Amino acid sequence: MKYVIGIDLGTSAVKAILVDYGGIVHQTVSRSYPLIQEKSGFSEQDPEEWYKKTKEAVAELITNFEGKADEIEGISFSGQMHGLVLLDQHLNVLRNAILWNDTRTTKQCEEIYSVIGEKQLIAITKNTALEGFTLPKLLWVKEHERDTFDKINLFMLPKDYLRFRMTGTVQTDYSDAAGTLLLDVAEKKWSQELCEAFGIDIKTCPPLAESHAYTGTIKKEFAEETGLTGTTKVFTGAADNACGAIGAGILSEGKTLCSIGTSGVILCYEEPQKRDYDGKVHYFNHGQEDAYYSMGVTLSAGYSLSWFRDFLGGEESYDSLLKGIEHIPPAANGLLFTPYLVGERTPHADASIRSSFIGVDSNHTKVNFVRAVLEGVTFSLKETIDILRDNDHEINTIISIGGGAQNKTWLQMQADIFNAKVVKLASEQGPAMGAAILAAYGCGWYSSLQECSRVFISYEKAYDPIPSNVEVYETLYEIYKKVYIQTKNLNKELEHFR
Ligand code: XUL
Repeated sequence: MKYVIGIDLGTSAVKAILVDYGGIVHQTVSRSYPLIQEKSGFSEQDPEEWYKKTKEAVAELITNFEGKADEIEGISFSGQMHGLVLLDQHLNVLRNAILWNDTRTTKQCEEIYSVIGEKQLIAITKNTALEGFTLPKLLWVKEHERDTFDKINLFMLPKDYLRFRMTGTVQTDYSDAAGTLLLDVAEKKWSQELCEAFGIDIKTCPPLAESHAYTGTIKKEFAEETGLTGTTKVFTGAADNACGAIGAGILSEGKTLCSIGTSGVILCYEEPQKRDYDGKVHYFNHGQEDAYYSMGVTLSAGYSLSWFRDFLGGEESYDSLLKGIEHIPPAANGLLFTPYLVGERTPHADASIRSSFIGVDSNHTKVNFVRAVLEGVTFSLKETIDILRDNDHEINTIISIGGGAQNKTWLQMQADIFNAKVVKLASEQGPAMGAAILAAYGCGWYSSLQECSRVFISYEKAYDPIPSNVEVYETLYEIYKKVYIQTKNLNKELEHFR
């Protein structure tokens, strides 16, 4: 039998899966690592941790593997997007990685607009300047850590650093490069104009490759420490949202994904040059050659729930936390939550906004709060669906993956709030499956990503919207949308105290 490994370098953990030629998942191993949050708005990780934890995860996977290590033909990667990893001339890491959910760079985003203009930025990158993207982080380092900036020989994205440590070769793929705000997204090349405008040497941008491109084999040291062999081929990989889409079969026009991990996204497949969103949603290169996707992001999706769990002491399992939400009616007995714990991206690009519970009543108990958190996260995602529908996407069926697909009541809630059929996958593995599919395609097992995804993915169950719930949520959604408008200035004033 032949196998591939898909590795997803996430924000809270790295996950490695072992998948055979027929798409059967034989093993799933994960290892977590912490966020380093020195101040409100800061979010960093130590790249060495990513490498160490990945090594442990792969070693465990090989230890439990009953086949021979040389049957593992390929490895590929999915990675948290936008994170800035800085390397010096010896390719040593210069500082902690600054992550996608770090929002310290509002000033740098303003600077980007004043130097290049919003219109020109969108013309080149198809995106607006958001705190989470990589270019503002580079400019922050330039302003606040000049010594470090002067030593930069190369910057990398998280999964690319991991692959570099495993193989010794340096590349990034288009889907991850698109999230830097330095890529000419349509031309698929680093933008000389943007690099010059911001004093960034274009040579510090890593070489570009397709997501399924072969990039080398495993280094002796990594092979010895994990039990892999030096014959396993390594393929570039893609951004986690692109991999989530590949792993859910979002590989042709008309397909939509809802992915709820730490962040939450609604993502639509896009054919080249078919639509122009003028920066209203993210627009990135896909992990499939010459395809794109549009996407809106809720920064704290699963994170809202994990925050609430931690707030209650952090000891409960999610199953126990969510117990009983099915008995609370839609609208959580008048309790409403906005998921702006770390600011927001879509549709409100606002680093200052923070969450609210509105309508707290002395009769509300924990379960009302939990239901309100799930509803608030789902409303936020619905705001992206509205933008995509307004831009000519017919969204009748949505594949749901991640934490949001683990609970029946949340899946039904998605169907009711999105007013669309919501489909859960069988044996869903999230972005790690997309990485495995890239490796399988890279190995030449299948003639296209689509052919491979048809073998690797199947649907388990569909949830249809319940008309009476749709009606309640339509009314509640109008109230939900007002909360942002009415709390925006209050949160700006409160910022001073954070
Ligand atoms: C997308 C984004 C997040 C991260 C999560 O733009 O910032 O979804 O990719 O890992």
